[in-house]
Amino acid sequence: MAEPTRVHVPLGERAYDILIGDDLLESAGDKLQAMFPGRRFGIVTDDEVASAQLPRLTRSLDAAGLKYSTVSVPHGESTKSITRLNEVVEGLLEARLERGDIVLALGGGVIGDLAGFAASITRRGMDFVQIPTSLLAQVDSSVGGKTGINSPHGKNLIGAFHQPKLVLADIGALDTLSTRQFAAGYAEVVKYGLIDDEDFFFWLEQHQLAIFTGVRRLRSEMIARCCEAKTRFVLADEKETGVRALLNLGHTFGHALESATGYSDRLLHGEGVAIGMVLAHGFSAKLGLAPSQDTGRIEAHLKRAGLPTRLADIPGELPGTGFLMDAIAQDKKVVRGALTFILTRGIGQSFIEKNVDPAAVRDYLDEMRG
Ligand SMILES: NC(=O)c1ccc[n+]([C@@H]2O[C@H](COP(=O)([O-])OP(=O)(O)OC[C@H]3O[C@@H](n4cnc5c(N)ncnc54)[C@H](O)[C@@H]3O)[C@@H](O)[C@H]2O)c1
Repeated sequence: MAEPTRVHVPLGERAYDILIGDDLLESAGDKLQAMFPGRRFGIVTDDEVASAQLPRLTRSLDAAGLKYSTVSVPHGESTKSITRLNEVVEGLLEARLERGDIVLALGGGVIGDLAGFAASITRRGMDFVQIPTSLLAQVDSSVGGKTGINSPHGKNLIGAFHQPKLVLADIGALDTLSTRQFAAGYAEVVKYGLIDDEDFFFWLEQHQLAIFTGVRRLRSEMIARCCEAKTRFVLADEKETGVRALLNLGHTFGHALESATGYSDRLLHGEGVAIGMVLAHGFSAKLGLAPSQDTGRIEAHLKRAGLPTRLADIPGELPGTGFLMDAIAQDKKVVRGALTFILTRGIGQSFIEKNVDPAAVRDYLDEMRG
């Protein structure tokens, strides 16, 4: 078995490793036994991951002689709710897990966010390990300690910063992920190139086909580069008071579109981010900040990945621009009424702009709706 790639997140007392590689689920039992001797484990997962990947994890925990219980919730964004949070917390308590025991978040970003938040509040804070199984979770949500659930008022409005003790990103787990979900995660991969790493965007252009056909060496390198990038931002600004906000490139538009489609299967989070990144580049070009050829190039790359890139690509009717503007204003990146957007001067040159004129955004959205 090849050695996993290790990305260290040096956050002092809260430092942890991200391990990326093949067969990490098979070796998870031994790893957890060595790191947390004598502890018990509470696996939190969703129904789809439970059938696709959970047996690999439980076989490995059984082989290492570890004691664990499992809470499984339905899959999908609507699971990031107060009701499901309550179910998970009660499940952990019912299993008599103690404060020193460990929550294992096995799943995509929904499970990572939900289980991580449950860990942060159960018995005033339990440790947890992220075992991300979607591409999006492996390159983004499992790293950095943001956890939480959605409110009817908007996405991720209830939550906590709670860093995991370890992240185990098993590349093989991606084999059971649908092509659509893989592509949605890929949008977040592209984001790292667009934020501040033009070379990475070129690398992705070069290797896109091989990555999509499943070449593990390239998938592993890609995920490691994303985790390194995310780690850089988290170290610079753990609580997102500054530069970490660049990770939200495309997300203000994306979140508004997710809200407009009811957080449903009509538009996955990563798909909203893909459209949002094209809109953010197009808007920057309209303001005369960025070359418009870049928008076309990004759009072509995302399209080749099978991602939607325009408002018209979203199936069904969208609510009016007023609804989207309300959703944008509700986004937590709004400070004292001024719109904060991540804008760009071109591929790999994004920046935080805190004084975006809402009227300009409204006009741009009207124009894009055609
Ligand atoms: N905390 C953060 O920093 C952060 C960052 C980015 C995104 N997020 C959040 O992440 C969420 C999106 O994550 P996601 O795209 O992973 O969604 P998800 O967790 O809903 O997973 C997508 C789907 O794939 C299934 N799945 C996952 N792994 C699988 C596998 N290996 N085999 C088969 N099926 C599998 C899941 O059951 C689900 O149906 C959003 O809620 C978003 O807000 C959080």
